[in-house]
Amino acid sequence: MRKAKIIAVANQKGGVGKTTSAVSLCSALARKKKKVLLVDSDPQGNASSGIGVNIRELNNHLYHSYTGDIPLSDVFVNPESKWKLTVVPSSIDLAAAEMELFPLKEREYVLKKMLKPVQDQFDYIIIDCPPSLGLLTVNSLTAAHSVLIPMQCEYFALEGLSQLVSTIRSVKKSLNKELFIEGLLLTMFDRRNKLTFQVAEEIQKHFGDQVFETVIPRNVRLSECPSHGQSVIEYDIKSSGAKAYIKLTNEFIRRQG
Ligand SMILES: Nc1ncnc2c1ncn2[C@@H]1O[C@H](COP(=O)(O)OP(=O)(O)O)[C@@H](O)[C@H]1O
Ligand SMILES: [Mg+2]
Repeated sequence: MRKAKIIAVANQKGGVGKTTSAVSLCSALARKKKKVLLVDSDPQGNASSGIGVNIRELNNHLYHSYTGDIPLSDVFVNPESKWKLTVVPSSIDLAAAEMELFPLKEREYVLKKMLKPVQDQFDYIIIDCPPSLGLLTVNSLTAAHSVLIPMQCEYFALEGLSQLVSTIRSVKKSLNKELFIEGLLLTMFDRRNKLTFQVAEEIQKHFGDQVFETVIPRNVRLSECPSHGQSVIEYDIKSSGAKAYIKLTNEFIRRQG
C-alpha cells in the first residue's frame, strides 16, 4: 500500500518560486509514473490554474473541504496533462478560511485530518503554501513530513528566513515532531549577476548541505508556461527551466534514500 510523503512548499515571501517549484516538481514526479497530489493552499489559486485547472468552472475547492466537511477526494480534479496527476484546487474563498478556522480547538490539524483518508492513494502529496505564516501555512506544516523552501537569489533573501525557520521550529515543537527541512532551493539564479553568486554563497554558508545542489536558473519559459496551463516540463522539456526541475526531482528522490 502507498503512503504518501507530504511536502509543504513554503516561504512567507511572495514571488520566490513556491508555486513554480510545486507545480514543476509534481509534473516531473508524475512523469516518473509516481502518483502525485498537488494541494493548492494559496487563495490566489496560481498552482491550480498553472497546471490547467479552470477554477471558475468548479463548485468545490479546498475551502469547502476546510470549512464544510466535504471529503477532500470530492474536490479532486484531474487536469488535462501528459502525465496524470490529481489536484485539490483553491480559490479566493480560501482567504476566509483562516478566520473561520480560528475559533476551532484543533484548528492547526484540519488539513492533516483531511489528508489522512487519501494518503494511501498517492506516493507524494505536495502542498503549495500562500505567502504568509498564517493558519493555512501552519496547517500545511502540521500535515507535512517535510518542508521545501524556495529562495530567490536576491539581496534580501535571508531576511525573513529566520522567521520561517522559527515558525518551523515551533510547529515541530508543539504540533508536528517529525517535521524536517527537505531542502532549500535556490531559484531564479542569474549567472550574469554577480550578486546572485554572493547571495547563493551566503545561503550555502548558513545552511550547508540543507541546500539542494540543483539550482534553478532564471528562464523565460518558466514565466510563460502558467498562462498555457502547463508545467514547464510539459510546455518545453528542452528549456533550461525544465531541465533544472527534472534534475531537482532526481536529487529529491535520491535524497529519500
Ligand atoms: N526560475 C524562474 N525564471 C523566471 N521566472 C520565474 C522563475 N521562477 C518563477 N518565475 C516567475 O516568477 C513569478 C513568481 O513565481 P511563483 O512561483 O509564482 O512564486 P511564489 O509562488 O513564491 O509567489 C511568476 O510569474 C513565475 O512565473
Ligand atoms: Mg505562489
